[in-house]
Amino acid sequence: MKHDRYALPIDSFADRPTPFYYYDLQLLHDTLCAVKEAMPANGHMHYALKANSNPRVLQMISSSGLGADCVSGGEISTAIANGFAPASIAYSGVGKTNREIALALRVGIGCFNIESIEELYIMSEIAVQMNKIAPIALRINPDIDAHTHHFITTGLSENKFGIDMRMLDQALDTASVLPGLKLKGLHFHIGSQITITEPFALLCERIAGIVDKCEEKGISIEHINVGGGLGIDYDDPVTHPIPDFKAYFDCFSRGLSRFSDKALHFELGRAIAGQCGSLISRVIYVKKGTSKQFLIIDAGMNDLIRPALYGAHHHIENLTSFAPKEVYDVVGPICETSDTFAEDYSLPSSRRGDLIAIRSAGAYGESMSSTYNIRKLISTYSY
Ligand code: LLP
Repeated sequence: MKHDRYALPIDSFADRPTPFYYYDLQLLHDTLCAVKEAMPANGHMHYALKANSNPRVLQMISSSGLGADCVSGGEISTAIANGFAPASIAYSGVGKTNREIALALRVGIGCFNIESIEELYIMSEIAVQMNKIAPIALRINPDIDAHTHHFITTGLSENKFGIDMRMLDQALDTASVLPGLKLKGLHFHIGSQITITEPFALLCERIAGIVDKCEEKGISIEHINVGGGLGIDYDDPVTHPIPDFKAYFDCFSRGLSRFSDKALHFELGRAIAGQCGSLISRVIYVKKGTSKQFLIIDAGMNDLIRPALYGAHHHIENLTSFAPKEVYDVVGPICETSDTFAEDYSLPSSRRGDLIAIRSAGAYGESMSSTYNIRKLISTYSY
């Protein structure tokens, strides 16, 4: 089904300098409502700021009552500045610095997701020095293949993230004896852009075994944080603007039904912010080669790096031409061959000045942009 409610307001784009990020706040609002409606009674959502930390986006998410998932001191400060309660913040990261840990303890975040035994010692040391108790969860690496791009899969055992399952005993013992720590939960995250439920179902099986093991050792866990990772439809964002949150949450409620007395934490980023954003650009030249034609647009890989970095596919539209289709390589102006948004892509016959939309760019678009080639960070427009 086509959702006219989320049609791009093309007329209002006409006089704007391009490129820019456009955010559909109605779609973000409806997505947040869908999350809250589908979330189980024991569920808590921490929005992953890394996906998109645009202030308008953050303010809408924080005012809807969600918590935050942060991975740096900068994200913690930004979350708080944009309305997230410090106690609602979960803080992950394999390389938290002393300064970042101290900041998080000072503002009183809800939980540190601890990624190594080494980090447990440092956390304890800093907490004791500051006369604080650090609320912690152990991030366990469950060794699950999320069947997604290898750059964004994080739950395999040879990965840098989390504590290896085989070191779980040692981690639990260490966390129980070190001063200044309060072990509250277990944390997992197996990867991103996961579009099938099997990896999540497998994760639930692993989690159940681990929680049982904790309880056998007399360690009681208050919450289970299952991370993020729910994917979005990059091929057809017009038909599927809002992910199937119900199927996602149901998978965890079913798989972890024995633990319904514990809080269930989620850290979705992409599924919340991904579909509400589009990168809007203009055609600079239609360059005819001998066997290909290039649509050279004014947005580059510095504005949206996903295609160059992961070979990611984004749906592309020409918003101003309705002519018969032709085949183009859609490329940016940056001096890199990988500055290519799509190869052999069918679009209505295009001309200099046409408006181009690269869809599903609300997550890991603006937040990963850079000034490479001394280009300015682009403006945003929310509607
Ligand atoms: N929690 C943790 C511990 C994470 O590492 C991540 C993402 C999330 C939550 C949120 O995951 P999401 O729900 O957004 O899948 N730049 C890549 C994605 C990297 C994801 C990194 N971690 C991309 O553009 O596809």
